[in-house]
Amino acid sequence: MTKQKLSKNIFLIGFMGTGKSTVARNLCEQHGFKIIEMDETIEEREGMSVSEIFSKKGESYFRQLETNLLIETQTQQGLVISCGGGVPLREQNVIEMKKNGMVFLLTAKPETIYDRVKDCHNRPLLENNMTVSFIAKLMEKRREKYEACADYVIYVDHKSVEEICEEILSQINE
Ligand code: S3P
Repeated sequence: MTKQKLSKNIFLIGFMGTGKSTVARNLCEQHGFKIIEMDETIEEREGMSVSEIFSKKGESYFRQLETNLLIETQTQQGLVISCGGGVPLREQNVIEMKKNGMVFLLTAKPETIYDRVKDCHNRPLLENNMTVSFIAKLMEKRREKYEACADYVIYVDHKSVEEICEEILSQINE
């Protein structure tokens, strides 16, 4: 492992299934950064899965937990934060990320995303909508906000996790 010091936080944003968590884990394992996986952190704190939070407490309750967690990250440096796919949709979240972070948008073709998420049952927004066309429509609806939030865009189709991490690191070290 090569230990590297980050003066900012790294935020990984992007649609469900673009590989944010895997890339964050790899960056942290290889380079000694500290990871925050937002969905996992929220699930641990609430003692429930994201799907249960959506069904028992509602989506807006979950969205507020995301905002609270982002605000907390402001007290630390050198974190890699794997954001839930909905995080860039709230303006307040974008403001928080920009205060102390470099924001990397991971993006892929809807077909690639479908292949990765089709057998998963932990994403309430896709649970009854598991089709390429639904994914493509939701991605298009979110595209403007994702792009406005991003400092860098990384296309992940046909790339290994290592290649994606290299792209991110080369931007960090510029
Ligand atoms: C969501 C993405 C999910 C999770 C929740 C809502 C979204 O996270 O936060 O199901 O609105 O795109 P991942 O992007 O990590 O799957």
